[in-house]
Amino acid sequence: MKEIEEKGYLDIAIDSGLDIKKEIEILKKQKNAILLAHYYQNGEVQDIADFVGDSLQLSQRASDNNANIILFAGVNFMAETAKILSPLKKVLVPDLKSGCSLADSIKADDFTEFKKKYPKHIVITYINTTADIKALSDVICTSSNAIKIVENFPKDQKIIFAPDRNLGNYINSKTGRDMVIWEGACHVHEQFSVEKIIELKKENPDAKIISHPECQKPVLIISDFIGSTAALLEYSSKDSSKKYIIATESGIIHQMQKSSPSKIFIPAPPLDSTCGCNDCNFMKLTTLKKIYIALKYEQPEIVLPEELIKKAEKPIKRMLEISYGK
Ligand code: 13P
Ligand code: SF4
Repeated sequence: MKEIEEKGYLDIAIDSGLDIKKEIEILKKQKNAILLAHYYQNGEVQDIADFVGDSLQLSQRASDNNANIILFAGVNFMAETAKILSPLKKVLVPDLKSGCSLADSIKADDFTEFKKKYPKHIVITYINTTADIKALSDVICTSSNAIKIVENFPKDQKIIFAPDRNLGNYINSKTGRDMVIWEGACHVHEQFSVEKIIELKKENPDAKIISHPECQKPVLIISDFIGSTAALLEYSSKDSSKKYIIATESGIIHQMQKSSPSKIFIPAPPLDSTCGCNDCNFMKLTTLKKIYIALKYEQPEIVLPEELIKKAEKPIKRMLEISYGK
């Protein structure tokens, strides 16, 4: 296969001085492609992206650009969302193996059965889901707008929230709702060890603990601030402290360090420190070489059935309307 051959040649070419970042730039211009990257990507990927953001910002950007091709450096559910919002554009990913343990924790057949038990409930689904789960939902949310989306419904509205149990419980505690919650979780955020974070805090008493709501409750309880990746970044740049313990995927530290070069950011330790699992192995599959190959051969492409796009588009657009009022 041509791409495989190219990978071998590419290593030789890079060793002989090929500037892969420049080559990506040339291909992007030639093909009118835009490179979108999530905050959890490797720093070198974030640095060559046209736009870096959290899930909500990336969805908004995917639905509003003039490119012919969207190259999505993130995970598959994000690229699927881009395809649903821009069905006429070609959406490429660097590696189709970029799944998500949270999105994998819910399957359409099981969710259909689950919904039958709660016929009066509306369904609010986190964006970290496959397109077929989105198609079974009334409205989508991200960690940035989850509270706003929930509060958009009357207090007595019965709600199913899926699939992240930690985010769901956090929203219940913040809004006083009693949403029925699907028992899913992200393997990265569930791995943070509250005991080790407390130890780290003892060694760094001047550090603030800031965490993502996908973390488990004990971690959230000891946190000084809880928010989406974009909210954590903003907090770290505006807050007056000099040191932070970061309980979310470590890729975000790249942007934190860029916007606050004099501050110290310490990644929160996972339960098993040998596993490196405060890094999302799916996010970290993206490399510059894979981006180059994807752009050059316009593969792998995200392809979704038209019918599924139509069904999944509604709840995502509803989220964007509630979030941005359009
Ligand atoms: P946000 O980008 O909404 O903060 O979500 C984090 C995440 O887990 C993405 O996979
Ligand atoms: Fe999925 Fe967790 Fe990775 Fe985000 S960090 S993409 S929720 S596995």
